[in-house]
Amino acid sequence: MDKDIFEAIKIELKNLSPQEGLAFISNRFRAKSVFSTSFGLEDQVITQMIASAKLHIKIFTLDTGRLFQETYDVFDLTVKKYDLSIATYAPQTSSVEDLLARKGPNSFYESIENRKECCFIRKVQPLQRALSSAEVWITGVRADQSTNRASMEIVEWDEPRQLIKYNPILYWSLDDVASYISENNIPVNTLHKKGFPSIGCAPCTRAVLHEEDARAGRWWWESSSKECGLHQRKTETSNRSL
Ligand code: ADX
Ligand code: SF4
Repeated sequence: MDKDIFEAIKIELKNLSPQEGLAFISNRFRAKSVFSTSFGLEDQVITQMIASAKLHIKIFTLDTGRLFQETYDVFDLTVKKYDLSIATYAPQTSSVEDLLARKGPNSFYESIENRKECCFIRKVQPLQRALSSAEVWITGVRADQSTNRASMEIVEWDEPRQLIKYNPILYWSLDDVASYISENNIPVNTLHKKGFPSIGCAPCTRAVLHEEDARAGRWWWESSSKECGLHQRKTETSNRSL
């Protein structure tokens, strides 16, 4: 995409609400616009916006094979409630089989390198496939989730993936998200009520205490990185670069 076109789209989206922005993207890019959902609170808000306005944006999820049953339950509820089709991208069978043969089923607890290798196989590679023909990637990230996300912009150029990344509710607070969910009767993951504000894979997510950060339960045994590679800004052509 031409840099001038990107800049024009960025200006256009700047003054639009999330609903208006999603409608603009849908009209302009049709099936080349995709939204990734992990069925978290923010994603459920965006899914409702896409579904209620019957937008052309394609919704997909990355099924790592290690998700909570509660996540599949809200996946099922969402598809049925909104009469939606959500594409599922799974890891390559041979990569998972090879990882398990070499390192066993719980290698991610043993080192950051092992953890990133698992995330690369189960999330980053399937994401690359999901985005392969996309021109716009929509996500549910929020700025107050982490310092990495605080420096993101609502509309960004994703250089490694060569596409527009649109984060329509980047500046929403958690209260904004909660109000929208309750006003619109949106189904949510039942784990949220049990102390899980942020939900990823089952072996890598635990509940948090009141005083803890919302992402403290993600890869809780690690002290540094709280990202799996989906939202890293450097080129990710191999797991070594994560
Ligand atoms: S993560 O990188 O730490 O796992 P987080 O759970 O905060 O991400 O979700 C942020 C955004 O990343 C979501 O709004 C969604 O767009 C995308 N995302 C995260 N996990 C998945 C997944 N399993 N499938 C699809 N999209 C995902
Ligand atoms: Fe693997 Fe854990 Fe990453 Fe899921 S979050 S892909 S189980 S390391």
